[in-house]
Amino acid sequence: MSKKIRKAVIPVAGLGTRFLPYTKAIPKEMLPIIDVPSIHIIIEEALAAGIDSVLFVTTREKHSLQDYFDKHHQLENIIEKEDKKELREQLDRIPHNFKIYSVRQIEARGLGDAIYHAKDYINPDEHFAVFLPDDLIISKVPVMKQMVKVYDEFKRTVVAVERVPKNKVSSYGIIKAKKIRERIYAAEDMQEKPPLKEAFSNLGIVGRYILPGTIFENIAKTKPGVKGEIQITDAIKMLTPGVIGYEFEGLRCDTGNKFGYIQTVLRYAAMDKNMKGDLKKEVKKLFNL
Ligand code: G1P
Repeated sequence: MSKKIRKAVIPVAGLGTRFLPYTKAIPKEMLPIIDVPSIHIIIEEALAAGIDSVLFVTTREKHSLQDYFDKHHQLENIIEKEDKKELREQLDRIPHNFKIYSVRQIEARGLGDAIYHAKDYINPDEHFAVFLPDDLIISKVPVMKQMVKVYDEFKRTVVAVERVPKNKVSSYGIIKAKKIRERIYAAEDMQEKPPLKEAFSNLGIVGRYILPGTIFENIAKTKPGVKGEIQITDAIKMLTPGVIGYEFEGLRCDTGNKFGYIQTVLRYAAMDKNMKGDLKKEVKKLFNL
């Protein structure tokens, strides 16, 4: 099982209830991070890691995700006829050099079940990447690229981890970790959303995984866990010890809640040289700083 990682599975079947009423008509993965939807940033990270094929595990009302990466013929015609260079440049920011597949998750039975829908897409002898699109990670080297490097060295399942505050431990998958070297841990066990007093550590799993094609056998054996759902953490736990926890280099942004989303947009705006100065002035003014 040492082939190159080429495929990504991206679960996008969540209803985004934290962002209602907005998400009644527009998928949360299409929330704008200034002028691109968050899924655009996820796909760029995937492509930077060498991935060229993506499976969306999707649900009804999510077709805009696939439309976004399609060519828009009407716009293309206008641009060509009227030689609109600026529009061309903007549209060319959208990545196209990958294949998109989709499969529907009919019932919301948990993240493990969502990933199980990729069973026919992944060969049993290949590893694949999983991206949870709520997590955007700002980093010099895209995080999945960092993880592929770790995978290339260890040829094992890799989960991204970071230290989480104690009061947030019960919101994450948690690993029992033995440090191998800087940023690299042997995950000896794991637990999904444990109460703080039962937690192995505060090393929380973040939404990036490199999983083996055999994970589907484990998911099939996984009983409903936290919230009565099939949890991917419980399936990966069956592979421990032998799983690597990788403490990535980067700043994780959790777009899955309102404050985290605003924080994410501000962080991206603060990196934009055309906006940075005005943003700083505005924030100072807003809070009388
Ligand atoms: C999921 C996983 C959890 C992981 C988290 C990272 O939980 O089940 O193990 O730590 O993503 O964002 P969710 O946030 O979907 O409840």
